[in-house]
Amino acid sequence: MSALTFPQSDTSRRIGDAERAAILADPGFGTHFTDFMAHARWSEASGWSEDEIVPFGPITLSPASAVLHYGQEIFEGMKAFRHDDGSVWTFRPEQNARRMQRSAARLALPELPVEDFLASITALVRADEPWVPAPTGETSLYLRPFMYASEPFLGVRASHAVDYLVIASPAGAYFPRGVQPLVVWVTDAFARAGAGGTGSAKCGGNYASSLLAKYEAGEQGADEVMFLDSETHTFIDELSGMNVFAITEDQRILTPQLTGSILEGVTRASILQLAEDRGLTPVEERLAYDRVCEDLRAGRITEMFACGTAAVINPIGEFRDRHGSVRVGDGGSGETTLSLREELTGIQYGRLEDRYGWMTRLV
Ligand code: COI
Repeated sequence: MSALTFPQSDTSRRIGDAERAAILADPGFGTHFTDFMAHARWSEASGWSEDEIVPFGPITLSPASAVLHYGQEIFEGMKAFRHDDGSVWTFRPEQNARRMQRSAARLALPELPVEDFLASITALVRADEPWVPAPTGETSLYLRPFMYASEPFLGVRASHAVDYLVIASPAGAYFPRGVQPLVVWVTDAFARAGAGGTGSAKCGGNYASSLLAKYEAGEQGADEVMFLDSETHTFIDELSGMNVFAITEDQRILTPQLTGSILEGVTRASILQLAEDRGLTPVEERLAYDRVCEDLRAGRITEMFACGTAAVINPIGEFRDRHGSVRVGDGGSGETTLSLREELTGIQYGRLEDRYGWMTRLV
């Protein structure tokens, strides 16, 4: 039973049909926002309460709010997909709900019950239903649940007041160039996460610390940055906001094992399952970057790709590091990579059978 229901008192829309249609025709990623947002508050005394759907708009925050000083914040990324019959679905939402609970535990934030998380998603997507793009191309409604420490207090301890919100943003391809092979810069100057740190939590701080390395990548003409483990700078961790995979000529699919410094990606877990179903052998292990380069040069690794909710599955065409560069296959988009992408999005958009019951209907 869900305790929170996220009722909606104000149903007036912010944007007219024509303006919304123009945005949906070319939404980009993360720049347009819908009419409403979900909101709830937590306090030590009352637990979770004050749940509601309200018009999207600025939030009020004391300048002393703990999140602004100590970064006590977590978030999730999900999508709502329109199917051909007009219905709207989301992908494995209970996985995001549980991961948010794990992130909350790591950041000393209160856990939101899974049912309440699902209620917030459902209520927001129902209120914002006209914002879910038609199933042409690969547009969807990106959902961003997040939680932050809102207590005005400058002492260093877990906040006694927390806000939870879900905002929504119509989305096309994550990368400005669309689904094109990425050039990935491998940094040895910066690390994303250390042992015992917050690497497996989806918290803003991890992404803030990736920014400088992403700029470094840009200076090298790359689209993305890949981090190695912080201790030895040997093993592949992940990209700035995506997990990474390799496919070998002998039909194995490799991805870094979950060591605590890597995000436990929902897309990552789903790919491991889909790949195994088509006869690839999934291998989760520590992947030494030098070894991967050798295997790429020798043709033993034939494809590599990045994956995440926002990025879906995106081929990697080349790695650059301060010693030189190595091409992945012929530098183009790998056949298995594109086929896995087709299968995953086929399930998400209802074009293929949902054999694991991964989809949840929202509207
Ligand atoms: C997602 O894939 O949903 C994320 O949160 C990653 C971010 C880089 C957009």
